[in-house]
Amino acid sequence: MIVLVVGSGGREHAIIKKVSESKRAEKIYCVPGNAGIAELAECENIPVMDFERIASYAVSKNADLVIVGPDDPLVGGLVDVLEERGLRAFGPKRAAAVLEGSKAFSKELMKKYNIPTASYESFDDPAKALEYVEKLSEFPVVLKADGLALGKGVLICNDLREAEDGIREIMIDKKFGNAGNKLVIEEFMTGREVSVLSFVDGKTVKPMTSAQDHKRALDGDKGLNTGGMGTFSPSPFYTKEIDEYCRKNIFKPTVDAMAKEGREFKGIIFFGLMLTKDGPKVLEYNARFGDPEAQVVLPRMNNDILDVIDACIDGKLDEIELDFEDNACVCVVLASKGYPVSYEKGYEIKGLDSFKDRKGYYCFHAGTALKDGKLVTNGGRVLGITAIGDDLKKARANAYEATEWVNFDNKYCRSDIGKAIDEIGTEA
Ligand code: AMP
Ligand code: GLY
Repeated sequence: MIVLVVGSGGREHAIIKKVSESKRAEKIYCVPGNAGIAELAECENIPVMDFERIASYAVSKNADLVIVGPDDPLVGGLVDVLEERGLRAFGPKRAAAVLEGSKAFSKELMKKYNIPTASYESFDDPAKALEYVEKLSEFPVVLKADGLALGKGVLICNDLREAEDGIREIMIDKKFGNAGNKLVIEEFMTGREVSVLSFVDGKTVKPMTSAQDHKRALDGDKGLNTGGMGTFSPSPFYTKEIDEYCRKNIFKPTVDAMAKEGREFKGIIFFGLMLTKDGPKVLEYNARFGDPEAQVVLPRMNNDILDVIDACIDGKLDEIELDFEDNACVCVVLASKGYPVSYEKGYEIKGLDSFKDRKGYYCFHAGTALKDGKLVTNGGRVLGITAIGDDLKKARANAYEATEWVNFDNKYCRSDIGKAIDEIGTEA
């Protein structure tokens, strides 16, 4: 098969690595890709939102399959454009990607189909939203910009003043642009967060092994929200009983609800869950692989990813048995100091040769580039240093050991990725 992958981050590197391990993969292309991806795929510098050029490129390369990684092109309808051009694409069409593209839509869907989530109200008039928070007796409260906001459109407000400021920022000052035309105000929940990515073929949903993200920039979950500073898989908090509950009450009902609404979902649904004392509840849906969740989930998968993707597109996922290794994986993101606010780029990266032929160690590129033949930093999140281990503790030790192999100026990482693992027992 000739495969084209759309995207340029660590997630797409992890997807391409998995595709490259398939016996069926003959040639891989990527738009726009990055310096690490370029070792496995031929890259062409086409922006992910240039749908017509991507479609023409795929046609010119005789692509048998196009895999779309990021949220923006999915929500914008890239899969529809590809299909109109007669291409086979993996990812939800625009009508289904709204599951991630509009929080007001997803909340309404959950309410209508009784899928457990935080209670909420949605608003398109800032005056009404302000009136609503003034009457609240309990804080914190959670404000969510309706649309895509680079993972930054969620504000947790500890008192009325913060809530009023947040409403103004999102709905009036339009800090997140049109994403703030509507606002969801929801109940604050507490508990462990778990990410479950799943393959979906329109009717059948097959969850992958669980993972957990660390979104905050600094140790101890302090500092600003980022795109993700690291992940581990599996989550020890996601037990068999919880999994059974989620399959029955969350995963399948979501897929059925989308079909009933005439928005058949084919692709990946990422269930962002909170394990509350009243049971698991949905925090958010994403219509794609998580980044950096894909980096810890895919290395543990034994299936040929192209077989699974084919089954999703053809509506035959019920014939596939997903199989994950009984081990663990940890990804530590090496970032540029100052991320997510301001940081410098262009520093030479050294030490990546250490990963060559080292089984169970991966260096997924996120923000890298080649400049005058040298590999340099080119983003806030630079590399996802990933390692397998027999259990989470070993995987964590291996990943942190591998972070030492790599050097660049202003290198920064959190030192507590996967540390929750050490807390088991004290929590139960
Ligand atoms: P989201 O993009 O909806 O996943 O929100 C980003 C982060 O905000 C989540 O990973 C949670 O840590 C937090 N969050 C979102 N919604 C809630 C909620 N209702 N209660 C508590 N925390 C939340
Ligand atoms: N890691 C969270 C996300 O991909 O949205």
